[in-house]
Amino acid sequence: MAGDGRGRRRLPLSLRRDAVAWERQRPTWRDARPALIAGALKRAQARPSGNWYVVGASRDVGGDRPLGRTVAGQEVVVWRDTGGRVVAGPGVCPHLGAPLRDSPVRCGTLVCHWHGLSLDGGPFAGWEPFPAYDDGVLVWVRLDAVGGEEPLDAPVVPRRPVPARALSAVYAGVGVCEPEDVVANRLDPWHGAWFHPYSFVDLTVADAPDGSDGPAAADEDAFAVDVSFKVAGRLVVPVRAVFTAPEPRTVVMHITEGEGVGSVVETHATPLGPDASGRPRTAVIEAVVAASDRRGFALARAAAPLLRPLVRAASGRLWRDDLAYAERRWALRSTGRFPGA
Ligand code: FES
Ligand SMILES: [Fe+2]
Repeated sequence: MAGDGRGRRRLPLSLRRDAVAWERQRPTWRDARPALIAGALKRAQARPSGNWYVVGASRDVGGDRPLGRTVAGQEVVVWRDTGGRVVAGPGVCPHLGAPLRDSPVRCGTLVCHWHGLSLDGGPFAGWEPFPAYDDGVLVWVRLDAVGGEEPLDAPVVPRRPVPARALSAVYAGVGVCEPEDVVANRLDPWHGAWFHPYSFVDLTVADAPDGSDGPAAADEDAFAVDVSFKVAGRLVVPVRAVFTAPEPRTVVMHITEGEGVGSVVETHATPLGPDASGRPRTAVIEAVVAASDRRGFALARAAAPLLRPLVRAASGRLWRDDLAYAERRWALRSTGRFPGA
């Protein structure tokens, strides 16, 4: 039933008949050419981000504490004002420098816990707010001094399913690497069934951009992958997934055929700043926006609070391995040992 998209929709699960042992699957290293991955990465890095950085999940901003992050060495606090609008600014109190990430939010106002200075999200002497954007799943902050690009009014938000029919979960992890290492990992779809055999089987890269056509629009510069997600034992869900990099720190996987058509997994890499030994740290913020027109999915949505930790755990397992890949890439790159360089 591999080529029958409609069949898949009615019966999303398949039973693998000729299950191939891990070591007997086709090696992908010949196709996964370092220059091809490097080219896709370079084209992604050339696209504008407008200096927008993902700082966290929309649902994590609100309540009586701000979200505090350090983005490329710049302390940032994000909270919601009285109208529920996301506001952001430097995480250093303009009075004597208290860490505002530890200050409470009272009625939409951030109140410094050292001497009570109140910030409502508007400019204050010595404290200039940063533009902030809530796309409904993720919150972005624009840091022009950090990004150094031409600013854009809004971030480059990937195409997503209609929120009413979707279930979203956000996973965040931190690795010792740079954003490009996270992006390069995602632009290597060939590692899927080899490196994550607990999640993926029968992976074929059906289409990969070689960059020979010159600069392509972000949505045409795509990797198309036929792959099955493992459910349990020999039960799998075959899908086609298309990977694109709409901006320098984002790689998006759209499910274009099979169960959950229209679902999206977005991987965002946000530079945090160096650790105690001066090594770069990068946050990986991954949003899964799952869609389905199945009746059962309405139930799944109702169970969203229960499902969310499951989706997060699944991506947590993948990300432990993918972060190890990204960290390894950085470790080799930073010591001149990366074979693809
Ligand atoms: S340091 Fe914030 S009010 Fe004094
Ligand atoms: Fe991976």
